[in-house]
Amino acid sequence: MDTMTIAIDGPAAAGKSTVAKRVAEKLSLIYVDTGAMYRALTWKALNNGVSLEDEYALAHLLRDTDLQLVQRENGQRVLLDGEDVSDDIRTSDVTNQVSIASKHKDVREEMVSRQQELVNQQGVVMDGRDIGTHVLPNADVKIFMIASVDERAERRHKENQSKGYDSNLEDLKEEIRRRDEIDSNREVAPLVKADDAVIVDTTSLTIEEVVAQIIKVVNEKKERGNK
Ligand code: CDP
Ligand code: CDP
Repeated sequence: MDTMTIAIDGPAAAGKSTVAKRVAEKLSLIYVDTGAMYRALTWKALNNGVSLEDEYALAHLLRDTDLQLVQRENGQRVLLDGEDVSDDIRTSDVTNQVSIASKHKDVREEMVSRQQELVNQQGVVMDGRDIGTHVLPNADVKIFMIASVDERAERRHKENQSKGYDSNLEDLKEEIRRRDEIDSNREVAPLVKADDAVIVDTTSLTIEEVVAQIIKVVNEKKERGNK
């Protein structure tokens, strides 16, 4: 069988990365978390006093940055210039500002080309905001994953509590709405459903049910003889 490429896009906390990881495991594909790459750049810029509004400086910083997604026993880790920043990039500081850094054309062009280079013969499940529209426009399967804001905030809240972090449900709803708004309205590669993407509304579905739906779409695609 040829290489299988699966694009999963959607708004914040819809369940993309959790589901994408499991689908990748089940189908023995590589998983690529593109949000982690934008988060890592944001983290580095904040630490180096580079303004997130300064497109030129940010793109320059990115070109000087070695970014790697590596598989370790404790899951996929993000290495920035060799340093494991996987936990640092999930702080609220980064979460609240990452959509600003992600607006810029020069930053996105460099990210997209790095993401495309990660596709190899093993096949890939990639999640983000512009995967089906820009990074993998010819993906075999495109999923647009959605869920209500209330449900998404509720899930993040539970996730935070289970990790022992401070969490406020109303603040989470606000942050999710704000980030979706910026991501959906930016000029370059906004968050939008690709014409040929299948919508999966996860609001009342378990993780297992979402995974099963995606595997079904993949199998249907293979059966149609295109793979
Ligand atoms: O997991 P969560 O929904 O919190 O977000 P993420 O996937 O880690 O992405 C963080 C941010 O990176 C998004 O809100 C977007 O601003 C940006 N992003 C993007 O612009 N394009 C992508 N392909 C992936 C993420
Ligand atoms: O990657 P994205 O931001 O879209 O979402 P995520 O980080 O994969 O999922 C956000 C939270 O929702 C995680 O704690 C998942 O375990 C949870 N989740 C869920 O409860 N039910 C689903 N159907 C999908 C995700």
